[in-house]
Amino acid sequence: MTEAKDGAEESGGMVSITWEALNPNSVRFKSLELQNFLSYKNASLDLSDFIAIVGPNASGKSNAVAALRLLREIPSYGLPTAIARRGGFDQLRHRSRGHPYDPSLRLCFEMHGSGRTSSYLLSFGSVKGGQYKIKREAAELFFADGSSASFDRTGDAVRIIVSRKDSKPERFNFNAVAGQSIIPAAGIAGITVYEVLQRIQTVEVNPAKVGDLQEPSSTATFESDGSNVASIYDSLDKKTKQDVVDRLAAIVPGIVAVEVYHLADRLTLRFKQTADDGLTRTFLAKQMSDGTLRAFAIMVALLQNRRPTLLVIEEPEVAIHLGALGSLVQLLEAETNKTQVLVTTHSADIIDALPIDSLRIVWHENGVSNVARLAEHSKIPVRKGLITPGQLLRSDSLDPVIS
Ligand SMILES: Nc1ncnc2c1ncn2[C@@H]1O[C@H](COP(=O)(O)OP(=O)(O)OP(=O)(O)O)[C@@H](O)[C@H]1O
Ligand SMILES: [Mg+2]
Repeated sequence: MTEAKDGAEESGGMVSITWEALNPNSVRFKSLELQNFLSYKNASLDLSDFIAIVGPNASGKSNAVAALRLLREIPSYGLPTAIARRGGFDQLRHRSRGHPYDPSLRLCFEMHGSGRTSSYLLSFGSVKGGQYKIKREAAELFFADGSSASFDRTGDAVRIIVSRKDSKPERFNFNAVAGQSIIPAAGIAGITVYEVLQRIQTVEVNPAKVGDLQEPSSTATFESDGSNVASIYDSLDKKTKQDVVDRLAAIVPGIVAVEVYHLADRLTLRFKQTADDGLTRTFLAKQMSDGTLRAFAIMVALLQNRRPTLLVIEEPEVAIHLGALGSLVQLLEAETNKTQVLVTTHSADIIDALPIDSLRIVWHENGVSNVARLAEHSKIPVRKGLITPGQLLRSDSLDPVIS
């Protein structure tokens, strides 16, 4: 295998592109388009540095997160298991007026420096017995060095095209395995999508699981519920561990250290906390407050070795003290050059701490969820300082742009 200077490799006549060219750290997520997925019929969620999805209970906020989580889990678990973890294909199909429709998801993102939008599309059909087939799976990827790669699967026939700058496109065809994503088999385009999807991290911390004795985890991936946070924290270098502690201390004052503690063949965490009497005490995770454990898990998810490019946090306000929420938002905002953040929230305090353009409004109408940015007429009084977004939320007056 000879390595070319422009970030491309030649291998047996097949052109591939090196890691530097497709460094997924330099990906920005741009939008998520959903058709017939859970409560969404046809919706597009614009992503930016930091977005906060707000809306009434059962309006569809978590359903949008479920779509990101499904995509994220394809590289970790494979498509059949990722779908099974959501309760099976039939559950994913949109139902309004009783009739189920077949879902389709498209994630758009941009490789830094390419100036073009790349995308990954996954579109399902149904077969008898509640099973699915893949109708189409396609990716179009544009790299900063001018190269591009794509795959396009219709049914089980796959076509791959790789184009390096200044050279003729190379084409390959093969047959996919029914029901399986072609990501692992689709060469450079597949590897890129694999890496990009892996950069999504969803966080729905269950403090009881963080507090429990944990089995040492063999995977390097942070589990959304925090059930392997001790192992993930253990794998961090000293400096990153200190970063986690410093950030946690900004939210929960008095935390001075967090250590991994081995109990028989299990792991847990030990927190050192200085109280207002000036004494430092040590507590096992089980004894720490839910809010501390949630905030700790969020910080580990953010700073884990494979740092997420999109961190998705469901309702960060749960169990976190009002005064500390502002600090949490500030901390996350300071990271957005490396990690985009998406939160779902009911918290007026969180949305007051964010720029008004961060808001995405979700609403549910005739059995269908919709999502949009905030309407201009709702922004005007906020810009004039007459009212805050949080006050608009409380009075149910955050109006979306209706297209
Ligand atoms: N397959 C489906 N087809 C149509 N609608 C669905 C489907 N699955 C779930 N829903 C709807 O989605 C709703 C749940 O939405 P979701 O969990 O996203 O709410 P949420 O906005 O996160 O609410 P909360 O603030 O309470 O967490 C259900 O109540 C149901 O109405
Ligand atoms: Mg929800």
